[in-house]
Amino acid sequence: MSFRLQPAPPARPNRCQLFAPGSRPAVFAKMAASAADVVNIDLEDSVAPSDKDIARANVIAATHEVDWGRKQLSVRINGLDTGWWYRDVVDLLEQASDRLDAIMIPKVGCAADVYAVDALVTAVERAKGRTKPIGFEVIIESAAGITHVAEIAASSPRLQAMSLGAADFAASMGMQTTGIGGTQENYYMLQAGARHWSDPWHWAQTAIVAACRTHGILPVDGPFGDFSDDEGFRAQARRSATLGMVGKWAIHPRQVALANEIFTPSAEAVAEAREILAAMAEAKARGEGATVYKGRLVDIASIKQAEVVVRQWELIGTD
Ligand code: COA
Ligand code: MG
Repeated sequence: MSFRLQPAPPARPNRCQLFAPGSRPAVFAKMAASAADVVNIDLEDSVAPSDKDIARANVIAATHEVDWGRKQLSVRINGLDTGWWYRDVVDLLEQASDRLDAIMIPKVGCAADVYAVDALVTAVERAKGRTKPIGFEVIIESAAGITHVAEIAASSPRLQAMSLGAADFAASMGMQTTGIGGTQENYYMLQAGARHWSDPWHWAQTAIVAACRTHGILPVDGPFGDFSDDEGFRAQARRSATLGMVGKWAIHPRQVALANEIFTPSAEAVAEAREILAAMAEAKARGEGATVYKGRLVDIASIKQAEVVVRQWELIGTD
């Protein structure tokens, strides 16, 4: 271990981020009433160019009028390659209520992208005397973003979470798919004539998790487009959770329960983690650093693994 300790990420549940377009205010109250830990109202790609101004006004009104309860409230601004993003930032920071927790920056390609938004946000916060600092989320969804993922994770103390955006990522990488996440038909290995499907998102996810964990950021899996395929969503989410991601987006309300199911550790997993901790406490009392639990080795590293599960359970407050 480096002498630099790994920083802890923000201590809040982030199992599901529910999205809806800012141009559809009729669903805002439904988002607030959902079981998602985070709500993301969108000003970017789900809003038509002709609706950008009205969507911005809707979002600002919603920060004042809707009761968001204890949810993390985040707004996705337009990309830095557009003419809309600065107005998104200035209007939100000047006019939104203090209930606004974060803004999400899409298509981040390098640390300087985050720096630019940070400079503008900081200036408006100072000018307006806003006392609650706005947090940032970013989406890694381009070749540049994944190439510079480590510097992006270190870019700003405002940064709390980082998501993989599968659709834009696939387009930027020139991947031959129009699917948003999940299994890709042509990504298989052949063995003895039988096809075995592999995971084309694995590398990008792992790179994001490593960058996030190094800098105390929450790694999150992005959208799964086919919202009629519950088992496909579960399979993708299980892979993401296994790799260290803490949650996943929902682009339809039916995906919220699925994400919460997968990213909440099961009662059996928590019970087993607590048994491992107890077994290791007994081993320690005997002066041993390793012991046997259910026929397998557990040692001091097992304590850290078990603590990940128990900590996540406690964060969610399910006990
Ligand atoms: N958040 C909260 N509630 C939603 C919702 C959302 N994102 N999408 C739909 N609902 C509500 C509907 O209003 C409807 O409510 P009702 O039962 O009270 O009438 C119910 O959930 C069922 O909706 P349904 O008819 O199945 O979906 P739809 O055709 O209205 O909308 C989408 C489908 C995909 C267009 C819509 O869910 C959506 O816009 N998703 C988010 C897209 C987005 O933000 N993309 C950017 C990030 S990738
Ligand atoms: Mg995108």
